[in-house]
Amino acid sequence: MSALSNPTAETPHVSVLLEEVLSAIAPASGKRVVDATFGAGGYSRAFLSAGAEVIAFDRDPTAQRFAAPLAAEGRFRLVEAPFSEMEQHIAAPIDGVAMDLGVSSMQVDEAERGFSFMRDGPLDMRMSRSGPGAADLVNGEEQAELARIFYVYGEERQSRRIASALVRRRAEQPFTRTLDLAETVERALGGRRGAKAHPATRVFQALRIAVNAELTELEQGLDAAERLLGVGGRLAVVTFHSLEDRIVKAFFTERAGRTPGGSRHLPPQTGGPKPSFELLFNGARTPSEAEVAVNPRARSAKLRAGVRTEAPAWRVAA
Ligand SMILES: C[S@@+](CC[C@H](N)C(=O)[O-])C[C@H]1O[C@@H](n2cnc3c(N)ncnc32)[C@H](O)[C@@H]1O
Repeated sequence: MSALSNPTAETPHVSVLLEEVLSAIAPASGKRVVDATFGAGGYSRAFLSAGAEVIAFDRDPTAQRFAAPLAAEGRFRLVEAPFSEMEQHIAAPIDGVAMDLGVSSMQVDEAERGFSFMRDGPLDMRMSRSGPGAADLVNGEEQAELARIFYVYGEERQSRRIASALVRRRAEQPFTRTLDLAETVERALGGRRGAKAHPATRVFQALRIAVNAELTELEQGLDAAERLLGVGGRLAVVTFHSLEDRIVKAFFTERAGRTPGGSRHLPPQTGGPKPSFELLFNGARTPSEAEVAVNPRARSAKLRAGVRTEAPAWRVAA
């Protein structure tokens, strides 16, 4: 079997919206494409199969284990770095940038990574395996800051109540394990009360986003992609929750010159930056029922995509 075939037992992450991303990026021989979130390499394999050269990024050092078979293709390299730093590793112009945000199945399923409230593991959640982890935040942040994290990154309405319960509990015994945190959150909310999702879902999402600075990464990654893409280059972004999608939607709406709020009674605004993207399609593409049936993790995915125009990038590099 070729190293470019579909996922197998060695590549346990099933790629989401793969056909749609392929059609948005249009990889081909002679094209240079960035896979900004390598994971198990599903997108990279498909881009390579289409003949493109692929520069992949993943800030998780364990992603390297899926890279070795692809490196043999000669048109591939994986850089261990956050995608916000992609400009430090590649020269413009690039023909495509694909982002498939969030965590991989390998990260969630491995209890030792501490991403899951279903599996007992250390309270970690660091994609890069460096810097402060979730336990540092839960045990070290002020109560008001914890409440803010849960409210802003988890859209958790009971954020203050949960933060107060965690601060009381950690004074007796600091948190070190995922299940301990999940159970404490559940108790603070008065149990499950018939809810479909686990009561700690939002708190875990919030901590993961905070630990990995995911929203700042996304904003900086989109700006970097805009600067790197040549005219006609394509940007495709798959999001998994509303906070991510809001950022991507606002980016494309703004860069395509479609920002609402202008008055139809006034002449169009002039003098602002020219649109740096044309939308590839209106709105977001979502997975088919068939895809969700096979891969339930795809259910909240949304793809947005655009084609780079010749207008300059809106933001210069910091
Ligand atoms: C959903 S998975 C990607 C799966 C991949 N498309 C596939 O088909 O196998 C997301 C991956 O992106 C990585 N990642 C998330 N945010 C990142 C960032 N800001 N910089 C670099 N890698 C990131 C995660 O470590 C994870 O391995």
